[in-house]
Amino acid sequence: MKIKNLLGIRELESEDIIQILDTAALMKPIMETKNKKTNYLQGKILVTLFYEPSTRTRVSFELAAKYLGATTTNISTSTSSVVKGETLIDTARTLQAMGVDIVVMRHPMTASHRLLERHLDATIINAGDGINEHPTQALLDIFTMRQYKQRIKGLKVVIAGDILHSRVARSNIWGLTKLGAKVAVAGPSTLIPRDIEKLGVEVYNNVRDAAVDADVVMALRVQLERQKSGLFPSLREYSMYFGIDESVLEVAKDDVLVMHPGPVNRGVELPSSIMDASNSAIEEQVTNGVAVRMALLYLLTRGGDI
Ligand code: CP
Repeated sequence: MKIKNLLGIRELESEDIIQILDTAALMKPIMETKNKKTNYLQGKILVTLFYEPSTRTRVSFELAAKYLGATTTNISTSTSSVVKGETLIDTARTLQAMGVDIVVMRHPMTASHRLLERHLDATIINAGDGINEHPTQALLDIFTMRQYKQRIKGLKVVIAGDILHSRVARSNIWGLTKLGAKVAVAGPSTLIPRDIEKLGVEVYNNVRDAAVDADVVMALRVQLERQKSGLFPSLREYSMYFGIDESVLEVAKDDVLVMHPGPVNRGVELPSSIMDASNSAIEEQVTNGVAVRMALLYLLTRGGDI
């Protein structure tokens, strides 16, 4: 990998993405060993700096770093000096002054990581910036699709729901189209960004139409916290018209894979019967998130193949 930081999938070459996926496949067995411990990142210090809530991303980065032998620490901004008014740059510089090598940050502002990049020598990883990108989520999603389908090129992937507020959708669109998948997005017109088709995706306002012959259907979380005014009448109506139900999966391929980045609003984006069915990869996505983040930490901080 020629890059030191991961700020978005948009800036990755398809070869970089393949290298991360191939390395993650080598990392995954480490999670199944008794000790779950290597020394690839021995002596490195990783901090997770999250200005927004997280369970999967924060914990999986912490575990990935620990499995590779790094030391980890975590800042909850609500109990840090951020609440006393310390700026993002000063917070990051303070961490670097203590010897931190890798900063994994989630921040509500688009491109906030680019600001950090100008001020830090440490490796910076984007764990979600506003509605812009969530690159490690897309990498683990693509890894999971490849695990189940043995390929990405030519797959039809439908991303359904709140596309407007979804950094997961944007990063997946960048990554999947770079690797030759056909991507369709579906959702209420109020939740579809203007000009999204310029990213090379098909746009539908009816999820059943979008799902015809789909290999993968990915539902997105309805992000009520980012909506300033009602963009659909009610959650019940959203679920009726844009949730993934049996009638949507019926028109997809017989072996359609169901995915969701989590956290799921059970009964809104998906009913429990679909979320917990055998063709749901939702828990496997979480497992793969650790392997993909191990690969990324390894490649960004050490360079080269294993
Ligand atoms: N998918 C995802 O980013 O989950 P968390 O918000 O729990 O990290």
